[in-house]
Amino acid sequence: MSSLLLSRGGTYLYGSVFKTHILGCPCVMVSSPEAAKFVLSTRAHLFKPTFPASKERMLGKQAIFFNQGDYHGKLRKLVLRAFMPKAIKNIVSDIETIATNSLHSWVGRSINTFQEMKSFTFNVALLSIFGKDEVLYREDLKRCYYILEKGYNSMPINLPGTLFHKSMKARKELAQILAKIISTRRKLKHDHSDLLGSFMGDKEGLTDEQIADNVIGVIFAARDTTASVLTWIFKYLGENPSVLEAVTEEQLVIVRSKEECSGQDKALTWADTKKMPITSRVIQETLRVASILSFTFREAVEDVEYDGYLIPKGWKVLPLFRNIHHSPDIFPEPEKFDPSRFEVAPKPNTYMPFGNGTHACPGNELAKLEMLVLLHHLTTKYRWSMMSAQNGIQYGPFALPQNGLPIRLSTKT
Ligand code: HEM
Ligand SMILES: *[C@@H]1O[C@H](CO)[C@@H](O)[C@H](O)[C@H]1NC(C)=O
Repeated sequence: MSSLLLSRGGTYLYGSVFKTHILGCPCVMVSSPEAAKFVLSTRAHLFKPTFPASKERMLGKQAIFFNQGDYHGKLRKLVLRAFMPKAIKNIVSDIETIATNSLHSWVGRSINTFQEMKSFTFNVALLSIFGKDEVLYREDLKRCYYILEKGYNSMPINLPGTLFHKSMKARKELAQILAKIISTRRKLKHDHSDLLGSFMGDKEGLTDEQIADNVIGVIFAARDTTASVLTWIFKYLGENPSVLEAVTEEQLVIVRSKEECSGQDKALTWADTKKMPITSRVIQETLRVASILSFTFREAVEDVEYDGYLIPKGWKVLPLFRNIHHSPDIFPEPEKFDPSRFEVAPKPNTYMPFGNGTHACPGNELAKLEMLVLLHHLTTKYRWSMMSAQNGIQYGPFALPQNGLPIRLSTKT
């Protein structure tokens, strides 16, 4: 569905808003910075998030992204608390361990980049949710989540034997594992600074079911998104040797400064990750060109007028991030991968890879952090070759290089 929209995006979207029935329902396409600001920020209360019912059942309807108002605000505060820089600063070296183990396990093999990145981002997600306790439950959680996601894109027919049925069962099992973790934590009464600690510590008290919906929701929001962006970075760096060399040079400066330190101090720190402007621009430019979340969904909660248009109550409203990110007026030669364009900060509401407003991504700092840490070790120690010329894009549902980008990774000589 997204490919249908996007492959023709540039040719039929004129102006800032556009009404269509292309998705089988009345939709308003939003493709200007001003209109996106209206829908996502200034009039956010008039546009509620909306998802297909089957997705809601799968993730749980009390998960943060399906909600508005007070309950949403409360969840958002708890999620932001666990993912703000002050909280994730403490897990940089644990993320580093996950990154170095992952890279090590890929050497000398032909790998499907996206599949392997998913395993990296899954492990980081579990770390951020459960802290270091996660290793105990990692395999069980992974097995259940894997079955759950296989049913995510299947027909929502809940009969024995169907993928959907299996996936609903896996969801129940996930909730049971979580209930076990929660009850153990309640008994031990330790304070935790991870996401589960944040959910459990709230004075207003979330139910176990609300916690489960949101833990599963955060894994969903965190894993495939970040893994797709990393996959695109492998592709763009592979195709742009001079950019790869610039990133490597920047990272080697950090490696050399660490070599002068002793023991423990060799671990990467939050401060190190702030000395990576070139690498950060590669991430920014990848987020722009790939625009893995091509658009998002809202629904008008009442009749709304914008710029002379009437958006009737109940209509879907789609802010088209990819169209904004690929507008030649905002980003000249938009198809070109050129990280240097971010040497100048983009104007407000022209660059929204993490959305904006009340539902903007609370995990964006963690996403950037884990990508920087992986890129630090990748560029300084390894090189990769792409198995074949792959220029297609697939959507599953996030934009992804064809076939998940098969590569071969080797240690640098
Ligand atoms: C590069 C990777 C990522 C991208 C591009 C991304 C992008 C986005 C975008 C565009 C939204 C807003 C959607 C909307 O307005 O409808 C969003 C929401 C969200 N993201 Fe991310 N995200 C990423 C990684 C993460 C990570 C790592 C986490 C968690 C650790 C996370 C957690 C969330 C949550 C919980 C929401 C819902 C917020 C709400 O409804 O208030 N995301 N993300
Ligand atoms: C989000 O919207 C606000 C208000 O319009 C704006 O100041 C800010 O720059 C926007 N953020 C992004 C990433 O565009």
